[in-house]
Amino acid sequence: MAILLDGKIISANVKSEVAQEVTRMKAKGITPGLAVIIVGDDPASRTYVNNKKKVCAEAGVYSEEIALPADTPQDQLISLIVSLNNRSDINGILCQLPLPPHIDDKAVIAAISPVKDVDAFHAANVGHIMIGDYTFLPCTPAGVMEMIHSAGVTVEGKNCVVIGRSNIVGKPMAMMLLHENGTVTICHSKTKNIKEICKNADILVSAVGIAKFVTPDMVKPGAVVIDVGMNRDENNKLCGDVDTAAVSEVAGYISPVPGGVGLMTTAMLLKNTVTAAKMQNAFIEN
Ligand code: GUN
Repeated sequence: MAILLDGKIISANVKSEVAQEVTRMKAKGITPGLAVIIVGDDPASRTYVNNKKKVCAEAGVYSEEIALPADTPQDQLISLIVSLNNRSDINGILCQLPLPPHIDDKAVIAAISPVKDVDAFHAANVGHIMIGDYTFLPCTPAGVMEMIHSAGVTVEGKNCVVIGRSNIVGKPMAMMLLHENGTVTICHSKTKNIKEICKNADILVSAVGIAKFVTPDMVKPGAVVIDVGMNRDENNKLCGDVDTAAVSEVAGYISPVPGGVGLMTTAMLLKNTVTAAKMQNAFIEN
């Protein structure tokens, strides 16, 4: 039976470290601040944004939500970002994706100052990650790495398979595993023999967005299986990409949904916000 990678416990550790840092910063007159922009009324985005605000409040981080109607013109959104770039009380800026179809998310991300880009989506930050010289890591893959580390699993020399090639998860996830000397394969919708490739993974990360996509016959006995999926099952219940009950019989470690990577994402966002605030205030721990 697989060991559970409990996002509640692992994220609580990250959040408590961040909260302690925030206390030290506040003692020196610095309060980290995060602006969260949401455009439209996508229910999943609303839930994510609410969680982000809640976690900020718990750690003593100032957060400001800017909710805009779905028909907000792109120019207006970009002007808002420019004004947030210029505010010294806002250290991190996050624009919740997806954006309505009339808005070009690349243009929006490009408008965020790279030093305030706590999602690490800006091309400058993506480039820094690629060359292994970065300040921010994107929150979801960084949370996955934290989970792997918390299990005491080393990546070096392991076969790592990432299912999904999104800019938010799959691509940076692969890069982070590579930085730790994993042998990394990215699978996607055009991959042939996906089952066989997955079956060879010591570390399997699924970010495909299909309920019960990962079945026990795709998993190597003892593997670390991390589920980044956020889907609804046939009963409209939240579930990941992995058939958790069945895969638990084969895997060595498994992360649940809910209660897994999602909690890590918000914890890592806090961490990035504090890093941003430290950099912008030239805050040095002593
Ligand atoms: N939509 C889904 N995941 C994310 C995320 O990590 N950041 C932002 N900004 N939008 C998202």
